[in-house]
Amino acid sequence: MKLISPSLLSADFGNLQRDIEMLNASDCDWFHVDVMDGIFVPNISFGQPVIKYIKKHARKPLDVHLMIMDPGRYINDFKEAGADIITVHYEACTHLDRTLHAIKDAGLQCGVVLNPGTAVSLLEDTIQLCDVALLMSVNPGFGGQKFIENTYNKCRQLRSLCDRKNPHCLIEIDGGVNTGNAPLLFEAGADVLVAGNAVFKSDNPAETIKQLKR
Ligand code: DX5
Ligand code: ZN
Repeated sequence: MKLISPSLLSADFGNLQRDIEMLNASDCDWFHVDVMDGIFVPNISFGQPVIKYIKKHARKPLDVHLMIMDPGRYINDFKEAGADIITVHYEACTHLDRTLHAIKDAGLQCGVVLNPGTAVSLLEDTIQLCDVALLMSVNPGFGGQKFIENTYNKCRQLRSLCDRKNPHCLIEIDGGVNTGNAPLLFEAGADVLVAGNAVFKSDNPAETIKQLKR
């Protein structure tokens, strides 16, 4: 599968509705929504009130990436705010299995995110629960960082883990994705590419989304 999930972290928050309408009209598939708590990652982004507003206008699923400690505390809040997919970090969950079940029990799609320094093999016991598995291709916290090349390697490892244990699980890549590395990531087995700066800092975001998909 080849899906694109533009990250609203790079959108113009003074013109958020305009940017959402642009994405509605584009070929993108999901809206990637980055929630940061200033503890799990150094940065603070936004929370449920902003997501509620995004949901009001967005006509595609909200792919909510929680970069917060103990995300299990907030599953119902993010569901109410409008999340369709919730991904949580392996590194931020003491009881990952419980948190994934809580997301599923809430009727949402769930996924695990791995930081660049976390091994793919650690998904061995949770991959069967996942609708999505996300590999960070930068250290999370900020948009506009440089893509980490080892991601191709990890992506191939994750592909073979999914083939073996959960062929329905989508592989998502997040951080530093652009029109140069997108084809290589799809070739390495990725299904969903997140792109923030590549889309929103482009002169023609809708066209860039098309190019990313090719
Ligand atoms: C990083 C976020 C990413 C980020 C991607 O912590 O999780 O989703 O917004 O932005 P780019 O594509 O600019 O690296
Ligand atoms: Zn993200």
